[in-house]
Amino acid sequence: MKIELVFATNNAHKLGEVQAMVGDKFLLQSLSEINCHEDIPETGVTFHENAKQKTDYLVKNYQVINCFGDDSGLLIDALDGEPGVYSARYSGSRDMAANINLVMQRMAGKANRSARFKTVISLYLNGAQYFFEGSVEGTIIEEQRGTEGFGYDPIFIPLGATKTFAEMSASDKNAISHRSIAIGKMVDFLKDIKL
Ligand code: IMP
Repeated sequence: MKIELVFATNNAHKLGEVQAMVGDKFLLQSLSEINCHEDIPETGVTFHENAKQKTDYLVKNYQVINCFGDDSGLLIDALDGEPGVYSARYSGSRDMAANINLVMQRMAGKANRSARFKTVISLYLNGAQYFFEGSVEGTIIEEQRGTEGFGYDPIFIPLGATKTFAEMSASDKNAISHRSIAIGKMVDFLKDIKL
């Protein structure tokens, strides 16, 4: 019998990708499949807190046994780790053009351009909690390049690359991204686990 595992997302694309990676031992379910239609609060000040908040919420309010949720963001050294957990709403709104503009404004004239994307996953499995992390180092450039991807992709060049994430194909980005690294660690763990 397949093990049901809720992914705290409504992004069908993300769900399908992770389902393909975990194989047929697990049946992934989205939030809408368990009739969770509200926004899950994200009030933590760390990625760990926010990821845990998502899974705690499902365990408490939806009596879910097995679930995972992720939280990601961009950390820029010259901005003391901002936008960090506030990446999605750095400018006060979800408007990514405004969020990118604010980053570029605050980075104007800064010599240190180093940054990283980070993802933390919280997984509940049979009452035990696990965390998985992934990150990718890179540089914030001074102009926007590329139209692929989402979020801060047009201003981020991963270490060792010449293209921004937004100039790469989805598969090239996924081969090295923070999210893929964290998901890969969770998938390896799930493949080995005996339930
Ligand atoms: P989430 O936790 O995956 O929803 O990510 C929160 C925010 O971080 C997003 O709204 C984006 O602004 C930013 N972010 C996370 N991952 C990426 C990425 O791979 N590329 C660009 N921006 C990202």
